Amino acid sequence: MTDKMKSIKVFAPATVANLSCGFDVLGCCLDTVGDEMMISITPTPGIRITKIEGADLPLETHKNVAGVAVEALLDAYNNPTIGVDIEIYKKIKAGSGIGSSAASSAGAVWAVNHLLGTPFSNQELVAFAMEGERLASGNAHADNVAPALLGGFTLVRSYTPLDVIKLHTPQDLVMTVIHPQIEVKTSDSRSVIKEKVTLKEAIHQWGNVGGLIAGLYTEDYELIGRSLEDVIIEPLRSILIPEFENVKKAAMSQGALGCGISGSGPSIFALSKSMDTATKVATAIREVYNSTGLDFDIHVSTINNQGIKIIS
Ligand code: HSE
Repeated sequence: MTDKMKSIKVFAPATVANLSCGFDVLGCCLDTVGDEMMISITPTPGIRITKIEGADLPLETHKNVAGVAVEALLDAYNNPTIGVDIEIYKKIKAGSGIGSSAASSAGAVWAVNHLLGTPFSNQELVAFAMEGERLASGNAHADNVAPALLGGFTLVRSYTPLDVIKLHTPQDLVMTVIHPQIEVKTSDSRSVIKEKVTLKEAIHQWGNVGGLIAGLYTEDYELIGRSLEDVIIEPLRSILIPEFENVKKAAMSQGALGCGISGSGPSIFALSKSMDTATKVATAIREVYNSTGLDFDIHVSTINNQGIKIIS
């Protein structure tokens, strides 16, 4: 045991990436589901994962997404006298498609940065947290870590150089997410995507990305709904998700604005204009899944405009 200098406990939120049309660039942050992490700055150099509860994940720093993300931060901070102890209380299941690895990576770097007196900007924290995503999926995508760190809806305008924008979040939006208890690894789910898209598909998709962002800023809920459409990834990935089409039909029949795959799946999200509609959507999609015999979780959440929060 090392002597603790300073500790904080944070809530590291789940996130919904892609939002149908924005593969690898769009995401948003949830309120009601997330991990908890206790982060301590210690006088003993090195990064130690001292406890993990709720999941069977590696304690070795180099194999743990929080460990490598903090390592990237400490490399940039360049103060070899500093050590970090990390306790992780997982509430988000691995392979669920609601940003489990991102929550750990983002929560850890945000908390360390806070304890160090915020030497880094949020943009820089996104880059460190992306190292956790690289370890988890082989690809350093930012569409989960950005909304976890910045809150609300986020856009990755560019990866080279990294340019992450926090978007406007209309107050009335509520997310319903169903998580079927089958594990779909992001790396597997990425392997079914084709490398090339046609110009026709690209035109369709970037029209929707623009439409979704315009809809968020003008709080035009119909436009948001029309823009939640994915002609490139969803047709390929949805076959990995039991009852995807029936869940979508059920969600839309209850008045959801739109419905699609959450991140790389298997979770499915539906976005609605009110808590009342989102709750009806939850009931309808629960009925669809009850018939499958599969275990599942359902989350209903407002959009978390703050991102990571200090609990204690
Ligand atoms: N954009 C990533 C993907 C998100 O769809 O593979 C993973 O949660």
